[in-house]
Amino acid sequence: MKESAASVHRTVSHDLPLSREFEAFMAAGWAPSPLAGDVRLPVAGLTPARRARLSARFPGERLIVPAGELRVRSNDCDHRFRPHSAYAWLTGLTGEEQAGHVLVMEPDGPHGHEAVLYVRPRSPRTDAGFHRDRRYGEFWVGRRPDLAEAERMTGIRCADLEGRGTPPGRDTFADAELASALSELRLVKDAWEVGQLQLAVDHTAAGFEDVVRSLPQALTHPRGERWIEGVFGLRARAEGNGTGYETIAAAGAHACVLHWIRNDGPLDPRQLLLLDAGVETDSLYTADITRTLPLSGRFSPVQRQVYELVLAAQEAGIAALRPGARFRDFHRAAMRVIAEGLTEWGVLKSPEGDFHRRYTLCSSGHMLGLDVHDCAQARATAYLDGVLEEGQVLTVEPGLYLQPDDETLPVELRGIGVRIEDDLVITAEGARMMSGALPRTPDAIEAWMGALAEGH
Ligand code: GLY
Ligand code: MN
Ligand code: MN
Repeated sequence: MKESAASVHRTVSHDLPLSREFEAFMAAGWAPSPLAGDVRLPVAGLTPARRARLSARFPGERLIVPAGELRVRSNDCDHRFRPHSAYAWLTGLTGEEQAGHVLVMEPDGPHGHEAVLYVRPRSPRTDAGFHRDRRYGEFWVGRRPDLAEAERMTGIRCADLEGRGTPPGRDTFADAELASALSELRLVKDAWEVGQLQLAVDHTAAGFEDVVRSLPQALTHPRGERWIEGVFGLRARAEGNGTGYETIAAAGAHACVLHWIRNDGPLDPRQLLLLDAGVETDSLYTADITRTLPLSGRFSPVQRQVYELVLAAQEAGIAALRPGARFRDFHRAAMRVIAEGLTEWGVLKSPEGDFHRRYTLCSSGHMLGLDVHDCAQARATAYLDGVLEEGQVLTVEPGLYLQPDDETLPVELRGIGVRIEDDLVITAEGARMMSGALPRTPDAIEAWMGALAEGH
């Protein structure tokens, strides 16, 4: 039987078979196309010190830090790929083409390590993968560096992923000790990282302005929350890699659902909108900011009352930030204000105990960096039970979530959710607010919304 073209080269259901003549035609007639200019990553000068700190923690052991694998979204469509944060931090590589790549730290004598980066290099034009491979082929998904280019980009020795084998070693995805070490090493940010986080915050502030400008249109849409998510997402994709986490666009009582990401509700001008969103830069650092805004542009008296209490709690939390303070201190300070406020309102009999948590639930902040909940594998001694250090970046984000069906609350308070979330870097003296470009007080928010509505 004559071999069919389709059996020679596998194609998918809707692709026409390829002939050998076509393959031969495709293999020739291409000019060389090296990457032009200086391809060295801006962060390449910083990653050797990061790897050296990791190396010092695991003398004599092989360390395996994969970027992660592509995941199928449906049929032959993959989810957009974002490399693991530890891999990005150690190599400086952040793009979608990192899928499947692996950094290996090979023990080099009893003390040091040699880093080797296993990558899938660009396929030569003579290799049919260039036009046939839908997942990795250059004709389908774009240019990848060859081995020499990858070495110039990173300053790390690179080898082809094919045929790497799997010698034993500690693997970030399987070894809790290695994962915690990598989380702990990332707790204090260097100046370049703080700069990237500031960039993320600045783009996020622009996204919040876009949202406020879009409110007249969003208010008319039956799924106004989704409209807002889309407007913020446009800014995030235009300026950076995308959003650092799923945007929470929660109007009215939806704001009482801590991670409301369905975003399928309408907007009512009598309600508050809780918008929790962050742009992730191309370098993969994310902001994490929440503002709670009156959809009419003006807070009602009861909305203002709830807002002012959360703001006072946030101020108390921020005032507790300084090097040497325990991580738990700012949360305690914020919750004390909430508990006292709820007692003043008659919702609680006393501020003592943890009854206030019915109305707050969530903790008041977390480390921020490459991951929105950054350094999450750090041991409690280094994070939850640890002390703050200069160069750490964190959120302070107290909230009140007054559920619409909570019979312990006066009727007028039910269904109001407020969170105020800012990003701060710990300095020698205390903390610097990174997200101060966005207004926080009710008066400032009203003035800001009013000015944006008038086209300023
Ligand atoms: N957006 C998730 C958080 O605020 O922690
Ligand atoms: Mn947060
Ligand atoms: Mn948030």
